[in-house]
Amino acid sequence: MAYLVIFVAGIGFFALSFVALGVLPGLRLEKEMNSARAVISAYSDAERRGQQTYVSLGCALCHTQQVRFLPTDIRRWGPPTQAWETQYDFPQLWGTRRIGPDLARESGVRSADWQLTHLHNPQSVVPGSAMPPFPWLFKGSPARPTAAANDLLAYLNTLGRARQSAGGVAMSKKVDTEMDPAMMAEIESLCAAPFVNPSQANSDIPTFSTVTNATSGSVAPPSTGQKLAARGAELFAQNCAGCHGSAGDGEGRAAEGLLPRPANLRASRYSAQGLASILWNGVAGSSMPAWRDLPAADLASLVTHVQTLHTQPVDAGVLASTATLARGATVYAANCVNCHGVNGDGHGPAAMALLPRPADLTHKQPDASLVQRVLNEGVPGTSMPPWPGVSGADRQAVAAFVRSLYIMPAGATK
Ligand code: HEC
Ligand code: HEC
Ligand code: HEC
Repeated sequence: MAYLVIFVAGIGFFALSFVALGVLPGLRLEKEMNSARAVISAYSDAERRGQQTYVSLGCALCHTQQVRFLPTDIRRWGPPTQAWETQYDFPQLWGTRRIGPDLARESGVRSADWQLTHLHNPQSVVPGSAMPPFPWLFKGSPARPTAAANDLLAYLNTLGRARQSAGGVAMSKKVDTEMDPAMMAEIESLCAAPFVNPSQANSDIPTFSTVTNATSGSVAPPSTGQKLAARGAELFAQNCAGCHGSAGDGEGRAAEGLLPRPANLRASRYSAQGLASILWNGVAGSSMPAWRDLPAADLASLVTHVQTLHTQPVDAGVLASTATLARGATVYAANCVNCHGVNGDGHGPAAMALLPRPADLTHKQPDASLVQRVLNEGVPGTSMPPWPGVSGADRQAVAAFVRSLYIMPAGATK
């Protein structure tokens, strides 16, 4: 009798654990898969090959693909990862170990030239990076990727695609966790707000009161200004010099593989507000990242530092005669207004279709020599064309006019 009881109990508990640990979670998972509101496309051949490369190079040893159910993760990458997002992943790559950032939503965050330059040598774009270089994926330079590098890039561009096509659905109605109610409430409120990928331009630009104080000179005590500038130089060396060069002339180590090339920050005068907006949003359509993860005080010091890079005296060539400016305005109206807009803010009728967007000349005053160069060569990698047809006096005039569009911030001395 005792043997029979033990036998039945043994079978019974085996069956029970089979149901509890295998069948029930399987059913729940299937239900969650079916609840996906998106049509998720399966991998193409290139993407599949890229995924294999990702696995074989050990990328998954340092990168997770799972936004965890924690406020810190959600704040940085959006709503938590759900099973349906990765239903085509065999092997699944959610991972457990993070040395680098999570990549579950990497698609669209970086431009292709950024990704390739970064794979070729991470430290050229992110100076302190602990990620190893993968030079054998390239034929000598980041501008010449092998097929394997292109496949890997195609794969990186699939990460987060499912979530995007579902229109950023937050999370299923009821989540049964035994989490601290306060944290749960925080997560719910984070998920309720639409998540904006940092690469997507966003108009919610912080107003840097510290910036205005520091740059208008007289308002801030000089020590504050100096401290800002020193911190700014340090941050610039850490974050920006890889692309823009340590002097800010656009000749950093990474510049070779980037198109458009990093801007020469010495050749234009920038308003604090214009810089704040560029740093907050990045430059969509180029490798220039958004820097909104940095604390506002750091952004303010970067703004101050970038402004000190421009050394050209202000009055060189700005004081053009009214006749010249009128002539320039005519040339501008005929050729430039569609993209740069009537008042030069970059919102011309054709602008919305273009990435990078046309320069906002009300917040950026290029040196006369830069305007001449741009008229000769255009800006390769953008829709800004060269203007061989605008020549001689017309060229001087339109350059002077373009420079006159800059709006001098109130209180600025430089
Ligand atoms: C030794 C660990 C390590 C390995 C292996 C590794 N990475 Fe990284 N990765 C990092 C670190 C650290 C960062 C953050 C610093 C940086 O951006 O370079 C990073 C950043 C990244 C980023 C930038 C994410 C972003 O948007 O900021 C991408 C994309 C990336 N890695 C892809 C890969 C791919 C693809 C592979 C495999 C070919 C790989 N990583 C292998 C450590 C690693
Ligand atoms: C991965 C390379 C890269 C890094 C890192 C980078 N930039 Fe850029 N940046 C670019 C590129 C490329 C452009 C040019 C975009 C264009 O032509 O539209 C640019 C444009 C800019 C502009 C706008 C210039 C203009 O005239 O419109 C500013 C300002 C700027 N960067 C500042 C910075 C600062 C400050 C940092 C560091 C916090 C930084 N960048 C880091 C690549 C980079
Ligand atoms: C097809 C649209 C288009 C037209 C037309 C156009 N631009 Fe541009 N322009 C752009 C874009 C896009 C950029 C931004 C390039 C970038 O981000 O580096 C730009 C940038 C510039 C810059 C700043 C370049 C730099 O490197 O800082 C100047 C100056 C400029 N344009 C002047 C002109 C003038 C003058 C005309 C007319 C003769 C003109 N543009 C016509 C699209 C256009």
